[in-house]
Amino acid sequence: MERLDDQPNSAKMDQKNVDLVKNTKQKMPMCMVFLFLKKISLFFLGYAICYFNVSLILTLLAICSLVWFETKKSNKSNRIASKAKACSMTTTDVLKIIDQLPSWVTYPDRERAEWLNEIISQIWPSINNFIIKHCRGPLQTKIRKKFDSFRFEDVDFGDTPPKIDGVKVYKATTTKDSIVIDFDVYYDGDCDINFSMSGAQIGRIRDFQLGAELRIVLKPLLIKMPIIGGIQIFFLNTPDINFDLEGITGISGFSYFVRQQIEKRITKKLVFPNKITKRFLKSVEAAELKSLEPEGVLRVHVFEAKDLQRKDVTGKSDPYVILNVGAEECKTHVVKRALNPKWDYWCEFVILDPLAQHLQFKIFDQDELNEDDFLGSGIVEIRNVIKEEENDKWFKLDNAKHGKIHLRFTWLALSVEYDSLLVALQEVRQLKVNNLSTALLTVYIDSAEDLPKVREHKKPDPYVILTVGKKQQKSKVKKHTTDPMWEQGFSLLVPNPNNDSLVISIIDKQTDTKIDKLVYHIRNLADFPDMQISKEEFQLTVAGKIIISLQLRILTNEFFEDEETDSDSDEETIRHSSMSVPCTKRSVSPKPTRVEEVQEAVEKSVVETVSAGHNVRRSPSFRVKPDLGQIEVTLFYSEARQKLVVTVHKITNLPLKEIGDIPDPYVKLKLTTPGNNSIKNKTKVVPDSCDPSFEETYEYLLTQAELRNSQLIMTVKSKRMFFNSNVIGQVVINFKTFHDLEEPCREWFELTEARDSD
Ligand SMILES: *[C@@H]1O[C@H](CO)[C@@H](O)[C@H](O)[C@H]1NC(C)=O
Ligand SMILES: *[C@@H]1O[C@H](CO)[C@@H](O)[C@H](O)[C@H]1NC(C)=O
Ligand SMILES: *[C@@H]1O[C@H](CO)[C@@H](O)[C@H](O)[C@H]1NC(C)=O
Ligand SMILES: *[C@@H]1O[C@H](CO)[C@@H](O)[C@H](O)[C@H]1NC(C)=O
Ligand SMILES: *[C@@H]1O[C@H](CO)[C@@H](O)[C@H](O)[C@H]1NC(C)=O
Repeated sequence: MERLDDQPNSAKMDQKNVDLVKNTKQKMPMCMVFLFLKKISLFFLGYAICYFNVSLILTLLAICSLVWFETKKSNKSNRIASKAKACSMTTTDVLKIIDQLPSWVTYPDRERAEWLNEIISQIWPSINNFIIKHCRGPLQTKIRKKFDSFRFEDVDFGDTPPKIDGVKVYKATTTKDSIVIDFDVYYDGDCDINFSMSGAQIGRIRDFQLGAELRIVLKPLLIKMPIIGGIQIFFLNTPDINFDLEGITGISGFSYFVRQQIEKRITKKLVFPNKITKRFLKSVEAAELKSLEPEGVLRVHVFEAKDLQRKDVTGKSDPYVILNVGAEECKTHVVKRALNPKWDYWCEFVILDPLAQHLQFKIFDQDELNEDDFLGSGIVEIRNVIKEEENDKWFKLDNAKHGKIHLRFTWLALSVEYDSLLVALQEVRQLKVNNLSTALLTVYIDSAEDLPKVREHKKPDPYVILTVGKKQQKSKVKKHTTDPMWEQGFSLLVPNPNNDSLVISIIDKQTDTKIDKLVYHIRNLADFPDMQISKEEFQLTVAGKIIISLQLRILTNEFFEDEETDSDSDEETIRHSSMSVPCTKRSVSPKPTRVEEVQEAVEKSVVETVSAGHNVRRSPSFRVKPDLGQIEVTLFYSEARQKLVVTVHKITNLPLKEIGDIPDPYVKLKLTTPGNNSIKNKTKVVPDSCDPSFEETYEYLLTQAELRNSQLIMTVKSKRMFFNSNVIGQVVINFKTFHDLEEPCREWFELTEARDSD
């Protein structure tokens, strides 16, 4: 260590060295490669490549990282000197340094790594072969399922290797014994792929481009050889892929299909939570590398969009949104014929690393006949939206002429306290969204033993389906075995761990029959330390055994404020009981003069007796000015839900024109939001009544800012003619005058003469 630290460090020196490096740039790679090869011969060649039969590419990448990593610090101040020193290091020196890695691995900034690019260009031909070997066959098989005479003729990725634009190294925040390295990989090569159908060459793929963030996790770190127990490789986010397809215009849907298959193949293999893992040491538990270790859950509210492009002949679009984080995907429903759609759609994503992952959204116009039209897309860096002030935003659409989308986010951290569940359940209940989750269950399926045979003389091809609530996940298929080793990690969102069970079904791929099953009540995990069990053996229902690890975490939103803290119980009745809390907010009726004040006092008491004991009706002549009756309404605005909830309870004291001429009343509601958009609703008609009861609830999606500039007009009408018109009275509510509707506000409003007859 000391020898790396005592390098001269002045800026002047740096400048000199930069020049030096420039001059020797051509010679550099050779020395680096030499250094690199020496390291390999020191500790990896024997182990990794020959002994453990590790794929060459994976090992090289790991070693590249290590070599770079070790020389990086000194490279900065003096590459040449460090090179000389590094080259003269002995095995023990190297080991000493590597042994100390975890303590000083904290470089937050991205670095350019030119020398790494040089190495990649040296080993590019073998990477090239590797990709061809692993992609060509499977991809061809996939495409042949749809276009059966398809064949790749020539596959050549050309001479230009991918470039690494930046490297970032850090200790994983959750565990100490790992090294995490992110590479910004960019490939813009001269690839040329020819393919044919029915024997005739019909097209080529050219100008293949790929941009991605590749993450390599080296873990666990060991104190003995080979230092690193294993490696995980994956893309944090779906890579950007772009290519030209030439010469296949004749076959409709083909270009789209090929593109989709390529993306799917990459996503399924390599995009988190999918990953490539390799153990360097047999004694390392596979679970260490293969189980998932998410850091939290991102709850996304796809609220609305504005000014989308017109794509249909009707001058409107039928928009929907696809969101994804890594390989996880959510799709909203379609809002028909709308350029300013409100989806009010919620979904949740399991997040591995909120600092490095991003959320991608794409808006499409559903088209019955053709391919769906693209309306715009965008990328949201998750680290930017998990703070409270930043979590409610409009995003401009990229790749579109105009339009923006309103997204809201909630970051849910993972708690090991089962007691946090009460708060989580409360929050979900308040949101009143159907299928939100309160907990995260991480499952590691190790293996099963002694599975029953479904067919005689033949072993099954078993795979696992995991079910929690309505969500399902599938494992890989293992061939011809009654003792399958899946060694696969999953994470599943749980609606309510008090109630939900994890159902593990083992299915035979050949016959599609269920071989065996395990039902585990998630609630049981609360009684284990740290809410987890590790490699427990469970008896399956029919015959065999299964070995699994489970971990339960409760989702906690640190910004959640209980809207009903003073409520007594946590049952469903909460909403109802608080609905009836009388509200002390000022009423919208005009400020009374002195004379009116007295009258109002009288009215109030009358209203109260009337509402308490029904069927009491006063004669209209009791009044000086015409009494048009009162209406009882509850108003409530939920910020979490971005919803105004209006409940029309009842009307009392409707006037009569003549004795016996009783109205058939109903209420028309008109909510006018900024921009003169109005939403109209009608209650049912209650025939023949002066004290009709409605108890109907209306919900309006709008932001708090919109609410403040909104107006609700409730017009009481009669289905029968009345006073030469069918309008009886009206209440106009300007929400500007309501400072706080965070709690349901139930109040009687005086009906006045209608100005707006609509
Ligand atoms: C692919 O086909 C084109 C002609 O269509 C040809 O010029 C080119 O050399 C072929 N590429 C390969 C890699 O065979
Ligand atoms: C709720 O259900 C819808 C439709 O079934 C689904 O698209 C959505 O992802 C689910 N939301 C959550 C949070 O699971
Ligand atoms: C829990 O399960 C019981 C019966 O399985 C059901 O009646 C109850 O509604 C469930 N409660 C919740 C909150 O889902
Ligand atoms: C909304 O309508 C009113 C009258 O109906 C009009 O005075 C006002 O200018 C309109 N506002 C906008 C933003 O169109
Ligand atoms: C109110 O009207 C809107 C739009 O016309 C409609 O979508 C909604 O279902 C109505 N609400 C009720 C409770 O009928």
